Amino acid sequence: MSALAMDQREGWIWYDGEFVPWGDAKLHILTHGLHYASSVFEGQRSYSGVVFKQREHTERLIQSAKYLDFELPFSADELDRACDEAIARNGLSNSDATYIRPFAWRGSEELGVPARNNKVHVAIAVWDWPSYFSMEEKLKGIRMTMARWRRPAPDTIPCKAKAAGLYMICMLSKHDAMDRGYTEALMLDHRGLVAEATSANIFFHRGGELHTPIADTFLDGITRRTVIDLAKKNGLKVVERRIKPEELSDFDECFLTGTAAEITPVAEIDAVKFAPGRVCKLIVEAYAQEVRPKLAAAQ
Ligand SMILES: Cc1ncc(COP(=O)(O)O)c(C=O)c1O
Repeated sequence: MSALAMDQREGWIWYDGEFVPWGDAKLHILTHGLHYASSVFEGQRSYSGVVFKQREHTERLIQSAKYLDFELPFSADELDRACDEAIARNGLSNSDATYIRPFAWRGSEELGVPARNNKVHVAIAVWDWPSYFSMEEKLKGIRMTMARWRRPAPDTIPCKAKAAGLYMICMLSKHDAMDRGYTEALMLDHRGLVAEATSANIFFHRGGELHTPIADTFLDGITRRTVIDLAKKNGLKVVERRIKPEELSDFDECFLTGTAAEITPVAEIDAVKFAPGRVCKLIVEAYAQEVRPKLAAAQ
């Protein structure tokens, strides 16, 4: 991504059903979503103009809003069409990888905890965000550290929503990791079991088996589910189970999965070292092919 500030970009943002110039996509400072986190979002990618698993993302956005007690004023068909139009309108139909950020929030009619009278707004921003790293660079793996914050228990927050409020601890964990020279943080859940990274799910490998935590307290990522299918197709056994942090040293490879992160090999989590190799490479390649159907068809 370029260093240009997000609000200084050129282009068009889809805002409540219409395209507005990038710099004009504004809202009032007394917006409920800003003060009380009544805001949900998606992160999608399109490859050569085709959004990967678009409907699953759109349905998750609609469902996330429901968890936060609001309905989106657009149907899934309308939202999908708006994403496609935003990609085309911004000249990104041929881009190798475009990031798409649909989001919805409660507006500024009333400011207090209850928000039922506040209008629900929806916007979609898209920008070019290709995967910059060669396989060699990817396989060096990132350095992770243990987060100081835990994922909340499912009865303390709607943990399946992709909602702004859930990212407060992710931001704090990421800042802390970066301050200490790491790239990412591994978050445990409320029970002290391995959960996920700050914006990606996690997998471990040993002896032909991929192990990943059961997604019962965090987002069951669309990439996570894609990788589970791809791994099985490629002869790996996939075990979803409860993983304790003290088990990490039993594994030889580790990687993160997420729409933005795609497949990101991990070299270490504090004192535990991994050797990104055959399995990381297999999954990186299988995922790259899976998300680029046009390219795969042309081969
Ligand atoms: C906290 C968190 N977990 C997991 C994921 C991975 O989800 P997905 O693969 O659907 O992008 C994301 C990214 O959206 C995330 O923010």
